[in-house]
Amino acid sequence: MEVIVMQDEAERVGLVADRIAGLLAAKPHAVLGLATGSSPLPVYRELIRRYEAGALSFRGASAFTLDEYVGLAEDHPERYRHVIEREFTSHVDLDPAAVAGPDGTAADLPAACAAYEEQIRAAGGVDLQILGIGSDGHIAFNEPGSSFASRTRIKTLTAQTRADNARFFGGDADAVPHHCLTQGLGTVMEARHIVLLATGTEKAEAVHQMIEGPVSALWPATILQHHPHVTVLLDRAAASRLLLADYYREVFAGKPDWQGI
Ligand code: GLP
Repeated sequence: MEVIVMQDEAERVGLVADRIAGLLAAKPHAVLGLATGSSPLPVYRELIRRYEAGALSFRGASAFTLDEYVGLAEDHPERYRHVIEREFTSHVDLDPAAVAGPDGTAADLPAACAAYEEQIRAAGGVDLQILGIGSDGHIAFNEPGSSFASRTRIKTLTAQTRADNARFFGGDADAVPHHCLTQGLGTVMEARHIVLLATGTEKAEAVHQMIEGPVSALWPATILQHHPHVTVLLDRAAASRLLLADYYREVFAGKPDWQGI
């Protein structure tokens, strides 16, 4: 796991955008894994800026989102399908038909989950997955206790996650759905490169556990210790509980430029 602590947001975002640009240049039909939540938003804004400047095209690419609420009306603005469109995909030349997410409105949810797994497989799998992390250590919506082998399925959100996400529902935790569909940890782990972004002290404990804690279903993100190519980008606050922070800084400072992330 590569851990990069950088206080400057533009620098952190630049590293991720450069990596995505490099991927698209080498593989125009790349498959991107997109996350919702606030952590990836600066990356999306930078990708949109580069697209508008004519420096980047997503024309041949496709994208899969991680998760979706269950129980929100089709046109609810907080459905992740709408969020990702509003925040990112509608502003670039990604074909709307090439952007998929689990269908939280399906009558048969298990069938929708199985179909989503199949769709990802048929696309050749995710080349680069952008991730955030919940304050309880969840990735996508894989809450504590999630199986490390899990695939896309229905999950129940914790009270902590519903409280954390209340800010998107007018501050009302009761308005946050109890259920969601989410790619499983086994699904997420098949992405070829995982780039996780976290900022702020409220993420510090989850980040410490993810990088330095014992691998445990209690902190689902710890499964990433078993992935061969994970890049974690942190500000100082999110890195504030890391035991080996000085070492991570030393490693990154000594890294040759050609290596990228
Ligand atoms: C949400 C999402 C996750 C996201 C996480 C952190 O509930 N399902 O994919 O990574 O919580 O969100 P944020 O980046 O807003 O802190």
